[in-house]
Amino acid sequence: MLFSEEKKSILITGGAGFIGSNFVHHWCNRYPDDLVIVLDALTYAGNRHNLASLEGKENFRFVEGNICDRPLIDNLLKQENIDTIAHFAAESHVDRSILGPDAFIQTNVFGTFTLLESFRHYWNAQGNPENHRFLHVSTDEVYGSLKPEDPAFSETTPYAPNSPYSASKAGSDHLARAYYHTYNVPTIITNCSNNYGPYHFPEKLIPLMCINILLGKPLPVYGDGQNIRDWLYVGDHCSALETVIQQGKPGETYNIGGNNEVKNIDLVTLLCDLMDELAPNLPVKPSKELITFVKDRPGHDRRYAIDATKIKTELGWTPEETVEGGLRRTIQWYLNNQDWWQPLLSQEYQDYYQKVYGS
Ligand code: NAD
Ligand code: DAU
Repeated sequence: MLFSEEKKSILITGGAGFIGSNFVHHWCNRYPDDLVIVLDALTYAGNRHNLASLEGKENFRFVEGNICDRPLIDNLLKQENIDTIAHFAAESHVDRSILGPDAFIQTNVFGTFTLLESFRHYWNAQGNPENHRFLHVSTDEVYGSLKPEDPAFSETTPYAPNSPYSASKAGSDHLARAYYHTYNVPTIITNCSNNYGPYHFPEKLIPLMCINILLGKPLPVYGDGQNIRDWLYVGDHCSALETVIQQGKPGETYNIGGNNEVKNIDLVTLLCDLMDELAPNLPVKPSKELITFVKDRPGHDRRYAIDATKIKTELGWTPEETVEGGLRRTIQWYLNNQDWWQPLLSQEYQDYYQKVYGS
């Protein structure tokens, strides 16, 4: 039997967050007989409602807990006979890392180390089975910032992180790499570009702009709005990660991107146009009147772009969604799920908003 056809017991860390919860749904749809365990600390970014439709399923379990808790992880791996870890849990927002880096070092570096160390001992105790995998989900931000004429990031681009967030993710990538080279632990690293889609917490550009348009609030564009990101619909990221788990080689890194480089100001303008078309009764229309240039993010990376040739040629994965198609689906999801995002605009969120954007 091919490895990819075996039934798996998969531990998904950070499975109540944005990409993690999309991945949990993706995996449960694709492999309904697999055992799926979600481990999530339910920080401000974690939301158990994201997984509501799976609660009660016989082969799905949610465990509230921290990836820094070694005894908890040791027990989980053994009790649930885990063969695959998909590791999403992280502090993920650059602006929060600038306000307070501590949690980023703790979760992203020490938490990843704790998981790797627990998995190493567990895997050794099992006799180093070949079908085990540790997928470390990372970001293109570890490569730093590109100039307009630079080639896109490839798997051999040197690391040059510029924010506490990207530095902490770079540290965790190095640990995942070292565990393969030193201990043969079957780790695989993926470095992905900016995701967007359902369940995206409204501190990030696209959901923040969608919700501010619905509320008639200013749309804060940092600096001159000329920064470039490579946007990938979250469903495409999930299919890439499935491909890497099933076919990727331990010890390898795969870059994942959308082939969709867009300037922030162009993205926000397109989003405004689509919102004007799709959302009824907007308080301000055309909504691009709400665009407001604000103080730049410190250390703001100018451009990210991913060269996804390796995953395409070696594993046969390519993204399917266009930016406009993905934005239409995303907008429709936020229009249909106001009950999901309204409670997130809590006092904690308002305090955070005040700190980043002022009054
Ligand atoms: P997110 O912030 O939406 O979710 C993170 C999840 O991790 C939350 O559910 C949170 O409760 C959980 N978590 C945080 N600290 C924890 C801890 N100590 N123990 C257990 N759980 C904890 O993040 P996201 O945007 O879904 O990103 C997921 C992963 O993908 C991250 O590792 C991130 O670096 C990476 N990534 C994100 C993007 C993107 O565009 N969002 C792109 C590339 C890579
Ligand atoms: O590239 C992958 C990374 O993408 C992930 O590793 C991170 O977890 C994820 O948060 C994301 O990081 P960015 O900093 O690129 O995403 P964010 O949505 O915060 O910002 C996207 C761009 O928009 C960036 O150039 C900053 C700008 N921006 C963002 C916000 C929140 C604004 O101009 N205004 C804003 O209010």
